[in-house]
Amino acid sequence: MESFHKIPQLMCKTWLLTFHDYGQGQIMDTKKLGPDGPEVSALGLGTWSWGDRWYWGYGDQYGESEVEAAFQTAVDAGITFFDTAEIYGGGEAERLLGKFRQQIQTPIQICAKYVPFPWRVQSQAINAAVQGSLNRLQVNCIDLYQVLVPFNFLISQRTLFQTLATEVQAGRIKAVGVCNYNVEQMHQAHQLLAEFGIPLVANQVRYSLITRQVERQGILAAAKQLGVTVMANSPLAQGFLTGKYSPDQPPKGVRALDSRFRRANFEKRFPVIDLLRQFGKTHGRTMAQVALNWLIAQDIIPIPGAKTAKQARENAGALGWSLTPDEIAALEAASRPWL
Ligand SMILES: NC(=O)c1ccc[n+]([C@@H]2O[C@H](COP(=O)([O-])OP(=O)(O)OC[C@H]3O[C@@H](n4cnc5c(N)ncnc54)[C@H](OP(=O)(O)O)[C@@H]3O)[C@@H](O)[C@H]2O)c1
Repeated sequence: MESFHKIPQLMCKTWLLTFHDYGQGQIMDTKKLGPDGPEVSALGLGTWSWGDRWYWGYGDQYGESEVEAAFQTAVDAGITFFDTAEIYGGGEAERLLGKFRQQIQTPIQICAKYVPFPWRVQSQAINAAVQGSLNRLQVNCIDLYQVLVPFNFLISQRTLFQTLATEVQAGRIKAVGVCNYNVEQMHQAHQLLAEFGIPLVANQVRYSLITRQVERQGILAAAKQLGVTVMANSPLAQGFLTGKYSPDQPPKGVRALDSRFRRANFEKRFPVIDLLRQFGKTHGRTMAQVALNWLIAQDIIPIPGAKTAKQARENAGALGWSLTPDEIAALEAASRPWL
């Protein structure tokens, strides 16, 4: 009888353990993109590493079963917003995402991206790119379609956004966004789409505690003023902010060449790393969760990449709790050199 009474206690302990290990339960936090765009989870998952052999080493340390587990774990934790692009893994990331999506009942939201290659000289090339992504993703409509870089080449921004507006009107795209656009380019994109009654809902930029240039460049302030949601890519500085890498233990592959891992540069970032560790201890969270929570506190949607279930689960634990205003301010002060 006595042991029977212990069952709820044990269950509670197990749940707390899970909570402590990964810091999450079912996450329900959502955000609207732009003024009235699709509703997405307040944290996304980036799929650049899915199928990418050259940069991330897909097929070596991890493969399809690991990224499928990352997908399933994220969805189970309430992370239903997935960022992908036609070029990730030569289309493999979209193919995998499309395949995994077929196997679940839960609706997910997908952000796909158009690359303005110089040989794409006519608006039909944009229509063909949208069709390619729709096919690989096995969907009839893409929730958010973003222009990956602000290159003009032979297609003007006017033709580009006019064509994307017609894709929205045709129902093949729900909302339009951009990536890596500066203040002026974002204003222009916003204006061009407005001519067709279509809002610019998002600008995706490189933003983390050690990559804060977008603040100095006024991009965050301009996005706020225009009602454009900011999505943060590489929010963990490609693993740097998880605390698992050091000059003696740099990441493998192309990232090993990243100058941030050279001893002198790495040591300059110690104060940020120390605070992530300290605040992680206070809240029973990991450094990655603290780094992502800091971005969420700035009203940003981070889209950390995840290759495994463990990473997806851990990153989902950035939601559902908050750093204190003093902790947010301390991280801001320590990371000021990277403004
Ligand atoms: N629009 C653009 O121009 C653009 C540019 C870059 C990225 N993106 C998007 O943004 C997403 C995220 O950026 P990113 O992948 O460059 O960088 P990131 O999210 O800062 O870092 C992702 C990498 O960090 C490691 N990691 C992630 N979670 C971890 C955890 N909890 N614990 C330990 N290690 C962890 C993994 O690599 P290891 O295990 O190998 O360390 C993972 O691949 C991309 O997937 C892509 O969708 C867009």
